Amino acid sequence: MRALVSYEPGGPDTLRLASLPDPVPASGQLLVSIAACGVNFPDLLMIQDLYQVKAPRPFAPGAEIAGTVVALGEGISGFKVGDRVAARCGTGGMAEMIAIDAARCTKIPDTMPFRDAAAFQFTYETAYYALVTRGRLKQNETVLVLGAAGGVGSASIQVAKALGARVVAATSSEEKLAFALSQGADHGLVYQLDKESEDPKKELARAMKVAVGRTGADLIIDPVGGFAVEPAMRCAAEGARYLILGFTAGIAAMPMNLPLLKSCDVLGINWRTFTLEQPLQSAANRAQLLEFYAARKIAPAITATFALEEGQAAISAFKDRSVLGKIVVLIAG
Ligand SMILES: NC(=O)c1ccc[n+]([C@@H]2O[C@H](COP(=O)([O-])OP(=O)(O)OC[C@H]3O[C@@H](n4cnc5c(N)ncnc54)[C@H](OP(=O)(O)O)[C@@H]3O)[C@@H](O)[C@H]2O)c1
Repeated sequence: MRALVSYEPGGPDTLRLASLPDPVPASGQLLVSIAACGVNFPDLLMIQDLYQVKAPRPFAPGAEIAGTVVALGEGISGFKVGDRVAARCGTGGMAEMIAIDAARCTKIPDTMPFRDAAAFQFTYETAYYALVTRGRLKQNETVLVLGAAGGVGSASIQVAKALGARVVAATSSEEKLAFALSQGADHGLVYQLDKESEDPKKELARAMKVAVGRTGADLIIDPVGGFAVEPAMRCAAEGARYLILGFTAGIAAMPMNLPLLKSCDVLGINWRTFTLEQPLQSAANRAQLLEFYAARKIAPAITATFALEEGQAAISAFKDRSVLGKIVVLIAG
């Protein structure tokens, strides 16, 4: 099979298109012919050895896939050859085939295109886990989404709206803000720090407060970190939940008086661990998301697709901070 392979740590240009032996499914595994692979920011971190999980080399990046079951390992029940599935694979997605534990696979509806299914796990399940399981989102609460035009950001907007929240989007450009509004956000702002200002973080906090409104943000979805943390925390409502999802802008230090003053819960979100340690709750979340999808309340905003041999460019878009919504690599079918 063909695969885009990382043989050494480095940026997207270190990936090589290679011909590898077809994988053989072990006991408890399915062999899946991959039709599409969703691309995510962590793929960029994985290939540089900067992610919290390190994969043994050589490996193909790509953490979420959709495709067709073509063979079964021993002891499989509940799946058959020909089933259409989506799977959380961590790595190995940018390849023509994968042997993967059946426990990581979910059957998908016949009407769901592979490209949607491949873009439906990482960001949506993270958003739902953050907003609902950890964030205890209630109807009519206000959610501030940072990095709102990205994968996690746009999924968070859609899921929060499906759950009846009011959503305020923060992005780094007017183009990204327009995209976030097209995903259902009610309001928004461009959140650049003004380098000329005497206190740029407080100034940004003031702009965020205007966008969020007088009562403040009940939930803050933060896949960005860095410069945005303190301003976002300053516009938290009394009793807010600050959800730490990622650090695309760097790991920030938080003035610890702020959560105290706001009676704010600061919650670390680790969706990967949740899927492994709480598989039943994780499956229930996935089922709810599929219901929202069937009811057309949410749908991945796939703004670019790439062929397998263009996978380097797909991952480079995350490095360039240029991704709108989701990017998918199309492999077969
Ligand atoms: N905790 C979890 O369980 C979990 C699960 C999935 C993903 N994540 C994390 O969530 C984050 C977002 O992932 P994603 O796939 O949604 O990525 P993405 O589509 O690239 O979105 C990330 C956003 O971060 C913002 N950003 C700020 N500074 C940046 C920089 N220097 N470089 C790149 N982006 C920058 C960008 O928005 P602006 O340009 O508008 O600022 C961008 O839209 C990643 O850190 C990822 O590891 C965490």
